Amino acid sequence: MQPSPPPRWVVLKYGGTSVASRARWEKIAERVAACIEEGLRPVVVCSAVSGISDRLDALPAAALKGEAEAPLAAILERHRRHAADLGVDPGLVADDLDRLSRLVKGIELVGETSPRVHARVMAFGEILSTRLGAAFLRGRGLDAGWVDTRECLDALPDPDPRRAFLQAHCGHGLDPALGERLDGVGRAVVAQGFIARDADGQTVLLGRGGSDTAAALFAARLGAERCEIWTDVPGMFTADPRRLPDARLLRRLDYDEAQEIASTGAKVLHPRCIPPVRAHRIPLWIRWTERPEVEGTVVGSRVDDAPRVRAISTRTGQYLVSMDTPGMWQQVGFLADVFAVFKRYGLSIDLVSTSEMNVTVSIDPAGNAFDAERFAALSDALAPHCQTKLIGPCAVVSLVGRHIRAILHRLGPALTAFEEHRVHLLSQAASDLNLSVVVDEDQAPRLVRNLHWLLFQEAARDPAFGPSWLALSDVGEQTAEVEGITPWWHAERERLIALAAELSPRYVYHGPSVDAAAARLTALSSVDRVFYAMKANPEPRLLQRIERAGLGFECVSPAEIDRVKAACPDIAPDRILFTPNFAPREEYVAGFEAGAWVTLDNLHPLEHWPDVFRGRDVMVRIDPGKGRGHHDHVKTAGARSKFGVSFDQIDRLKALAAQHDVTVVGLHAHSGSGIRTAAQWAEVAERLVEAAQRFPTVRHLDVGGGLAVAEKPGRAGVDLDAVDATLAAFKAKHPRYALWIEPGRYLVAEAGVLLARVTQLKKKGPVRYVGVDAGMNSLIRPALYGAYHAIVNLDRLGDAPTMVANVVGPICESGDTLGYNRDLPETREGDTLLVATAGAYGRSMASHYNLRQPALETVID
Ligand code: LLP
Repeated sequence: MQPSPPPRWVVLKYGGTSVASRARWEKIAERVAACIEEGLRPVVVCSAVSGISDRLDALPAAALKGEAEAPLAAILERHRRHAADLGVDPGLVADDLDRLSRLVKGIELVGETSPRVHARVMAFGEILSTRLGAAFLRGRGLDAGWVDTRECLDALPDPDPRRAFLQAHCGHGLDPALGERLDGVGRAVVAQGFIARDADGQTVLLGRGGSDTAAALFAARLGAERCEIWTDVPGMFTADPRRLPDARLLRRLDYDEAQEIASTGAKVLHPRCIPPVRAHRIPLWIRWTERPEVEGTVVGSRVDDAPRVRAISTRTGQYLVSMDTPGMWQQVGFLADVFAVFKRYGLSIDLVSTSEMNVTVSIDPAGNAFDAERFAALSDALAPHCQTKLIGPCAVVSLVGRHIRAILHRLGPALTAFEEHRVHLLSQAASDLNLSVVVDEDQAPRLVRNLHWLLFQEAARDPAFGPSWLALSDVGEQTAEVEGITPWWHAERERLIALAAELSPRYVYHGPSVDAAAARLTALSSVDRVFYAMKANPEPRLLQRIERAGLGFECVSPAEIDRVKAACPDIAPDRILFTPNFAPREEYVAGFEAGAWVTLDNLHPLEHWPDVFRGRDVMVRIDPGKGRGHHDHVKTAGARSKFGVSFDQIDRLKALAAQHDVTVVGLHAHSGSGIRTAAQWAEVAERLVEAAQRFPTVRHLDVGGGLAVAEKPGRAGVDLDAVDATLAAFKAKHPRYALWIEPGRYLVAEAGVLLARVTQLKKKGPVRYVGVDAGMNSLIRPALYGAYHAIVNLDRLGDAPTMVANVVGPICESGDTLGYNRDLPETREGDTLLVATAGAYGRSMASHYNLRQPALETVID
């Protein structure tokens, strides 16, 4: 009989968010099944349910104060709910929860805790999540057993008791006995991350990122085929994708590079998990729990030795201590003396730079509690040696990659990014894996953006780099397309190309899209009247369609009122709102003459021109106190905004209204533009009610506009159903008020595109440019707000991108850039580019700058 081949193990690690819901456990079950199908034996290493470790961490301190009851109850309740969500028996964790309660009670009674007890308390997080998770997998028909990691991983002795219990280290040598032990547990084994045991059998913790480490240790000791870290991002990136959506996925890294990226700031992986897998050459995969189909990052042995920058990482919250001394020159032992002082204060030094008269070091607060007080003490202690200065908060920006030294010359253009920044310190790691600069913390985002652009703009062509975060989050949008939300212009491609050939640049508006948006707004059950903020786009044929849909108009100038009346001659005046800001006296007169609802947003008109308002009904714009929106320029509320009457002016407003026989019939507020928080309109309504209580004559509350649309791939617009639901709840509470809204962008943004023809192409240094005949005089939003508009080549719609370029116009300013760093297919002179979502605040904000005519407008059906 042939001996059966040894089991082939795979370790799958899932973090706190990845184990926090049924939907995520479904994904885990699928992955486990797929691994079994592949002939592998999965060991699933799990963290505590997200949020639980923090709560457990705080429990001992709370117990000492006799305040543990509530947090403990919250932990119990969370796991009861979690069990219910997973559809497993909550009784499975009853014993554990009971033990935890007794342990906490013990701390309370004894009035004392210790690192040993702390570790025991913390360990419950992982124990609880894995017991429930294993039961869920069994419920899915998988042969999944549960094992206590403390019976699998032994910690090495450490003389420091704190470290021994809270930051233990384990050996990572091959351990055949472990395989044998797990063999009998089940086809799949569920184990805890973060914990291990010491030689006395006591629970110890593996420190921050301890679940990654535990997974790597299991993989190393079992000699696994691979270790998969499943997390809430798709992998490692060229920069932090949450701050820089252009960052590219890193498809492959060697162990050293991954370790360096993890150590210099990226939070995806804990650096301590690399050595165990590196020792056994076990491939480490980083994958996205939510979207398992995305390729992720593979960390493995070096494939090539070519020098290259792989990533830019940032660590914020750093402090520098600069030490000046004229006596250091040729003084023996100076560094030893000053470093001894740092040692005495328990401060670990990260980067160092020295010159004849100065030594500057950086201190990473992650491992050090460093504050002004500590610095003052350090400074005193250093006084005999040097004069000290504290610099910070700073950010360390590191370029990470193999043989950085060999590519310094190629970094030439990238170094221009430092031109505008004060560099406090520059350090090149002895490992030749990173080059770090320290700058003021607030400078870091811009520096990273510039560096990234200079170093990685060609990355689209390089197979080592995967898709950008933007493109990955775009997959959601592609799904939306499949479900029938393809932008209207896909179907109109031929027609648009013909229109651009006839006249370019050109705005084209799609009438049916405006009708559809209007219909969605008039269908809102909670809203009594919808006014279109026509500043977004006053094109007369669009106004007519909107009028036919039953909407009114919000106007901010007499000319806007005239435009509405000219386009829609039969419109009833009470469908017009006049909402001027710092307008001259005569405009209010004109507003009343037009029969519109006139809105005051200051006391000055009542104080100085009472005759204009005597005997009139008015609306008053209230400052709800908090501005919101896609950019500071479009936030229109809050103490520093020029809009609205503040709450502390309401008494005066009431007195003036009474004095001049003015009736306040409505209150209005508009917080800003491009708001995605669905509850904000109900919040504004609540604020208005507070003010309305002072004015019994108020009948309607206008909660403003600002509804965001989806502009950037991966970023959805506002959830209109949620807006409706929150406003409906408000109305149920306050039925006496009619609710009005006044969106602009929502009606027209997606209906409009700007067509432009390619004039010239250029490559200068590392940067490519695609020149078009539309500039910032046609569409100023990118220059003014850094707004993102998708740009496609209509002639080559759907072709794979082959270049990355800045799309620029013909205006004499560098800000005349419609899109930075865009992926485009091969693009030639004469091609038609389409700039999407340009129907709102496009043409209406255009100018004749450089005496260039802005794009003209066409409406199609
Ligand atoms: N109501 C008032 C009083 C407003 O000031 C505005 C816009 C609106 C309603 C309509 O906001 P919407 O729903 O369109 O977000 N130019 C900027 C937007 C500035 C909006 C100014 N006020 C942009 O291009 O994003």
